[in-house]
Amino acid sequence: MMGKTFLLLLILILNQACASDSKPQLLYLAHNMPQSHPVHQGILEMQQSLETKSGGTLRIKVFSDGQLGSEREVLELLQIGSIAITKVSAATLSNFVPEYHVLGIPFLFRDELHKFEVLEGEIGKSILEKGNKYWLRGLCFYDAGSRSFYTSTKAIRSPEDLKGMKIRVMNNQMSINMVKAMGGSGTPMAFSELYTALQQGVVDGAENNPPSFVESNHYEVCKYYTLDEHSGVPDVLVISTKYWSRLSEQEKEWLLEASVESAEAQKKYWKKSVERSMKVALDNGVEVIVPDKSLFAEQAMTVKEDFKRDYPELVDLVNQIESK
Ligand code: GCU
Repeated sequence: MMGKTFLLLLILILNQACASDSKPQLLYLAHNMPQSHPVHQGILEMQQSLETKSGGTLRIKVFSDGQLGSEREVLELLQIGSIAITKVSAATLSNFVPEYHVLGIPFLFRDELHKFEVLEGEIGKSILEKGNKYWLRGLCFYDAGSRSFYTSTKAIRSPEDLKGMKIRVMNNQMSINMVKAMGGSGTPMAFSELYTALQQGVVDGAENNPPSFVESNHYEVCKYYTLDEHSGVPDVLVISTKYWSRLSEQEKEWLLEASVESAEAQKKYWKKSVERSMKVALDNGVEVIVPDKSLFAEQAMTVKEDFKRDYPELVDLVNQIESK
């Protein structure tokens, strides 16, 4: 982490430590998306709702744009109780809480309905609870749509085109394996470093949903967007158990209600943002390619098989999701 960020963090941590002992309580929430992103808009709904429900006694201060560090760094800060809440991808979280790996399996969900039945039903609830023993209590899922490839050097029309291409992925083994299985080379990197890496040709492309592609201006560099929709891995709102355990029953209820309300609102912001993002991409000369998804899915099959072998205890969870 850079020196300036470190200093900012130190001041915040000290502030947060003092604030937590006196009322009104202020919970720090960090995430890595810009403020125009639907994730940030969902979080603002939670902030507002919590303030109203608690009559101002429980408030959230939001730090966007990765100001407090990458997803991995912020999760570590939650574990030691320096930051209260974050929003991260389930893919990053799976490095800390293995059950989340399941949600990153390529082509796992049949459609949106299936995805939300899983996330908002018993399976999703049980995965969120698994974080408790790692100090990372899941509050709710946020929609992160579908991830697809975008590239600067040449278009990907079928998995063969991925050969020899360096594709940035999230810091997560399954994502690296997935790109490899499809023929490319997955390069893990923090999201905040990606724009420069694309611009300087350190990587040939990346993969993400339309709002993240556009709101982070990656479309300025990558003029090909291949909608293979290989992953529906969701986002997760997580609270440090060090904070959670200090809240009263009433405060916990407010926070849970506010997070679920924000997830509902975020879904609406998400839909609008996907439409807008695709329009911005097209208006700015991005070629949108709709490939034969089954070709990519066939290649990625081995990732699921490897997963079942590496995590035999989680196979039941995969089966439950598939048969839902
Ligand atoms: C998505 C996701 C983020 C994640 C990002 C990434 O935008 O919502 O949580 O950080 O992808 O690719 O790093």
